[in-house]
Amino acid sequence: MTEGEGPEDLIAAAIAAMDKAYAPYSQFPVGAALRGASGTIYSGCNVENAAYPQGWCAEVSAISAMVMAGEDRIREVAVAGKGEALVTPCGGCRQGLREFAGEDLVIHICGPEGLRRTVTLGELLPLSFGPENLT
Ligand code: THU
Repeated sequence: MTEGEGPEDLIAAAIAAMDKAYAPYSQFPVGAALRGASGTIYSGCNVENAAYPQGWCAEVSAISAMVMAGEDRIREVAVAGKGEALVTPCGGCRQGLREFAGEDLVIHICGPEGLRRTVTLGELLPLSFGPENLT
């Protein structure tokens, strides 16, 4: 996927990625889409396997796609999942996003129907430890 303007394209990419999820064990498909600093969108889905703990989250797939394309800054995120509760990034994925963005990173939490709520990474991961701590 390539460049976009508002969050709509990012949200659409997250929902499309959710539909690609490989989640036969949890039956809980999730999609994530990241807009890199270049404007390019990278998306990914959760990928489970029979050795349950070895599966990985949609955010991990999307981050991997971004890094493989040579980018290392995330400008905006959308995550899409089903059910009534908000599908916010899990704790590990919050830290994974923090590696490539600051606390002002905007994260759109979506359902299959579209945007449900927009939050910042700082709200999800306050007082975070990031790469700057190591400098
Ligand atoms: N999942 C994600 O892909 N992202 C999240 O942030 C929350 C959880 C996936 C992992 C697992 O495949 C399924 O949702 C149920 O936990």
